[in-house]
Amino acid sequence: MQGIRAAITGIEAFVPDYILTNEELSQMVDTTDEWIMTRIGIKERHIIKEPGEGSSFVGTEAVKRLLSKTNTKPEEVELLICATVTPDHQFPATANIICDKTGIKKAFSFDINAGCSGFLYALATGAKYVTSGLYKKVIVVGAEKMSSIVDYTDRATCPIFGDGSGAVLLEPTTDPEAGIIDEILQSDGFGRIHLHQKAGGSVKPPTHETIDAREHYIYQEGQPVFKYAVSNMADVSVEIMERNNLSSNDIAWLVPHQANMRIIEAVARRMGLEKEKVMINIERYGNTTSATLPLCLWEWEPRLKKGDNIILATFGAGFTWGAIYLKWAYDPK
Ligand code: UT7
Repeated sequence: MQGIRAAITGIEAFVPDYILTNEELSQMVDTTDEWIMTRIGIKERHIIKEPGEGSSFVGTEAVKRLLSKTNTKPEEVELLICATVTPDHQFPATANIICDKTGIKKAFSFDINAGCSGFLYALATGAKYVTSGLYKKVIVVGAEKMSSIVDYTDRATCPIFGDGSGAVLLEPTTDPEAGIIDEILQSDGFGRIHLHQKAGGSVKPPTHETIDAREHYIYQEGQPVFKYAVSNMADVSVEIMERNNLSSNDIAWLVPHQANMRIIEAVARRMGLEKEKVMINIERYGNTTSATLPLCLWEWEPRLKKGDNIILATFGAGFTWGAIYLKWAYDPK
């Protein structure tokens, strides 16, 4: 185990074609482009409109592209983990479905539900199978159809979320200048009172009454979630810097969960990072939950250099939160 790290050796992402703009939203609920831009920082988000398609649709596209880009044969993949809060079905796991649709046969595959921290949790989990020496090719994919649980009559939540996916390939490395170095992942289930889905699970199986009460949509108390998001995300990001002796100058990029521009700015401030070092694409995709981090890395990939110190940080339903410190493993190709 000593000396082996898990490195991201390839990244791809996919968003559906349909773009839901603030203008269109303002015809659906009482809101404005100005309010959404000022309070959240989102201009548009991509939405799955393809009939009969769920999260595996976008997840499959990202994984297919990743396999092709990294010249990986489906049969080489030993483990695929899908992070999602919007699985195609309660069961089987969306990871199983993505494997089937991409020709990945016999791989160990399962889902992780950790709210908006899902990708980070899945990345940390996948990395352990690499550093243990068990697997050499692991795919971690974040895939969401958030539009399936958004109440488009609730102006406080409907501007926030979008659909999309991103996937990475993890492989072993012994290069000291590459790979995942450290992680802090935490959770506090008490936070569920502020952010959850009331019905549809085993506590409240679906009934006509739960449908009528719109209980299958996201329930969010924005202000407490905002407060915890800022403090918890910033705390772990600063802690991971300190325990790895990283100053703000040492950090090439912060990759923050894209939930609210004001949360991102507050976290970057606590870390002493100027905005130029922060990956921000919330304006075009909104909050795609488990897909925000890989969507950022994918967009920035052409600018990333081998050895770049990168901090990924998230906060989400659970509550769950965390930070991962990694060194980028390759130069632009
Ligand atoms: O990724 C999972 C984690 N989730 C998050 O990180 C979300 C964290 N929370 C937030 O990002 C923010 O709290 C929200 C974006 C959800 C809400 O922003 P806010 O600045 O906290 O607004 P608020 O809830 O305090 O509402 C302020 C006012 C209210 O009106 P009154 O009561 O002051 O008259 C709301 O009714 O803004 C009103 N409002 C809106 N107005 C226009 C709420 N939503 C809208 C809207 N358009 N879409």
